[in-house]
Amino acid sequence: MRWTDSVEKILVTEEQIKARIAELGAQITKDYEGKKLIVVGILKGAIVFYSDLARHIDMPMTFDFLSVSSYGNSTVSSGEIKFMKDLDQPVEGYDILIVEDIVDSGRTLSYLRKNLEARNPNSVRVCCLLDKKERREVEVEVNYVGFDIPDEFVVGYGLDFAGMYRNLPYIGVLAPSAYEV
Ligand code: IMP
Ligand code: MG
Repeated sequence: MRWTDSVEKILVTEEQIKARIAELGAQITKDYEGKKLIVVGILKGAIVFYSDLARHIDMPMTFDFLSVSSYGNSTVSSGEIKFMKDLDQPVEGYDILIVEDIVDSGRTLSYLRKNLEARNPNSVRVCCLLDKKERREVEVEVNYVGFDIPDEFVVGYGLDFAGMYRNLPYIGVLAPSAYEV
């Protein structure tokens, strides 16, 4: 049995992701012309998306990352958000683009947006690869969305289940047998 056998179906292919990221990068490049851009990736889920997106942002920018506690090994949000790693530098006067893997309930992003806005940046916007709009519990502004997806637990391209599957090059849905015991 191959480790990918538990992937029931592919929701977004490698080619679709690639094409969409080129579009997002071009749009971001246009929108941030002349700005002091700092792109903030949310570890670890956004890391694959971040590294591909950054190479389509055709202007000066700096990298930074932060890490917040998330689901642990469950597929349901605990609602608790804790900083595990903060930004390396002050962001006052910068235009922040938060890069996130997926917006689900909206709790993580809503918290991060407020937290970063309080540091007096010039602006804060959000770019997420995936948006599960049906699941939203907290209203939060998302400025750039890669793909709207249905309410299914997905893995790959940075997204994990229990820390695994982040290295799949596509977005897939796990067979329920992979996480139901
Ligand atoms: P929220 O706070 O409920 O919006 O959750 C956002 C975080 O939950 C994301 O950054 C992901 O780490 C995780 N998450 C939500 N849905 C999924 C999923 O379908 N697969 C993997 N991780 C997910
Ligand atoms: Mg995450």
